[in-house]
Parts: sequence; C-alpha cells; structure tokens
Amino acid sequence: MNRRSGPGRLTSDEPAIEIRDLDFRYPDGTTALLGVSMTVHHGESVALLGGNGAGKTTLALHLNGLLTPLPDRLRVVGLDVADGSNLAELRRRLQVVFANPDDQLFMPTVREDVAFGPRNLGLGRNDVADRVKGVLAAVGAAHLIDRPPHRLSTGEKRRVALATSLAMDPDLLVLDEPSAGLDPGGRRQLVELLRPLAQTRLIITHDLALAAALCPRSVVMEDGRIVADMATETLLSNGELLEHHDLAPGLGEPSTATGTRLGQQPVSHPDPGHYDREPPLSAERAARQGE
Ligand SMILES: Nc1ncnc2c1ncn2[C@@H]1O[C@H](COP(=O)(O)OP(=O)(O)OP(=O)(O)O)[C@@H](O)[C@H]1O
Ligand SMILES: [Mg+2]
Repeated sequence: MNRRSGPGRLTSDEPAIEIRDLDFRYPDGTTALLGVSMTVHHGESVALLGGNGAGKTTLALHLNGLLTPLPDRLRVVGLDVADGSNLAELRRRLQVVFANPDDQLFMPTVREDVAFGPRNLGLGRNDVADRVKGVLAAVGAAHLIDRPPHRLSTGEKRRVALATSLAMDPDLLVLDEPSAGLDPGGRRQLVELLRPLAQTRLIITHDLALAAALCPRSVVMEDGRIVADMATETLLSNGELLEHHDLAPGLGEPSTATGTRLGQQPVSHPDPGHYDREPPLSAERAARQGE
C-alpha cells in the first residue's frame, strides 16, 4: 500500500506496475521479452534479477515508455503506457535511473542537473533550491553541488543521477544496477538511503546482497521470460536455483550474499543483514556529507 497521500498520489486501487503478456523484439530481430507478466503492488520493493541479456533493461525501457508496448499490456501507476498522451504524467510519477549515469546528466553543474526536473514541474526558485540541497544531501553528494557532472567519478555520477530522480518526488522508482561502480561505503549508503523511502521500488541488480537488504521479493528473468518470482530469502537459500539462472557468484569472487564460491556448497541461510553489520560510514565521508 502506498504510504503517501494527497493530490496526484497513487491510490491503492491499481497496482503500481501491471504487465500482461508483454513481448518485445528489437528491430534487428532479437527477441528480448517473451510473455512477461508480473504485478508490483504499491509500497513493494522488488528485485529484478537475471544474467546478462536476460531482458531486464528492456523491461525498464518499457516502463517509462521509451519502448512502446501494445495497448493494455502494461499499466504503470495506473496509466496505460501505450497511450502516448500519458507519457508526461507517467514520467513524473515514475523515475527510471538507468545503469549509465551519463545518460541522465547533461547540464553544466550538478546543481542545474538536479534542479532541471523540479523547475519543469513549475516549482518556485526557493523550493527548487531547497529540494536540490535536500536530495543531494540524502545521496551523500552535497559537496558536489557546483561540480560539472561530466568530471565526476562513476560512483559520484551515480549518486547525482539518483538525486535527479528523487528530486521529482516520484511514486515509483526503477533503478537499473544502482550499486554498480559504488565503493563499499557507497553501497551501504545506497541501502541506507533506499530502505526508508516511501516509493514503490523495482531494483534491477546482480548484487544479491543489495536484493537481500532491500527487497523481500525477487523476480528472475532469463532469455526474455520470467522464470522465478518468490521471496528473496527463499531464492537466496536455493543454491541450485541461483547457479541454474547464472545468479551465483563466480570464479573465486567472494559472495555478496550467500557465502558461496563457484564449486562450493552454498550456505543454507541467506544473509539479508549483510549491510547492517558493516562498519558505520567513515568520519571523512560523514563530514563531507554535512558540508
Ligand atoms: N538496441 C538493441 N538492439 C538489439 N538487441 C538488443 C538491444 N538492446 C538489447 N538487446 C538484446 O536484447 C536482449 C536483452 O537485453 P537487455 O539489455 O534487456 O538485458 P539485461 O537483462 O538488461 O542484461 P544486463 O544484465 O547485461 O544489463 C539481449 O539479447 C540483448 O542483446
Ligand atoms: Mg541491463
């Protein structure tokens, strides 16, 4: 259930995302989605998992209408995505943060980039300035406000890209690989930032610890289809299923969630508290946040 109310807010009558038998083929003939059906309810936080090329980003591109579904196959925040007249409203209420932050940042300074959306919503100058400062502080990027986005590190860009989306105060957040390129402190901070948010969330990730920390439910895609939809805890305790769908950590890489390495028996209990046990933010980062 959506925890917020007021004009323009979601009601609990319609799901946040409703996908019915969605197919998609790219112009070169690659089939990327095949019979995808799923429902995400208000207030849910759902992980969308799957190996490379499974169709996750293609699905995200449909959610905000960058790729157009057939009528009645996809409703987001109660709007039919196929109906072009809904797109402006849809893109205000749904924010998709794409994997490559360069796709999202285009203004000369971070301040202007984050202000861009709220300004277009018609907010007054002071309200825009307050919102910009608030969301940048929330993502630990207050100190970057006057920097040119194209000169930031990947992790810094990622935080600013998230801030540009939060600045729109959306009902629904879709994050494509939000923890990629973040340092361990940045990943912890991301979890701490996302956990209390009121927005319904769909988090596309290969980071099982992130899924465990933030998403009670996980949906797994493979070859354009949904092949599993279950409690994250159940999924992470099933080493065979993880291996089968290319989700298990590989080649000597330490596990982020299950404690498995390739060729070893997975532990039988997932570790959703992984991030909780990390040391607190460094004093330096905390000081920078306060700037
Ligand atoms: N512009 C495109 N033109 C043709 N095929 C594409 C295009 N973009 C993606 N694909 C193909 O569509 C399929 C799904 O790709 P998609 O990017 O949705 O996967 P993904 O699950 O996001 O993978 P990853 O984890 O690597 O980001 C893949 O087979 C991919 O090669
Ligand atoms: Mg992708």
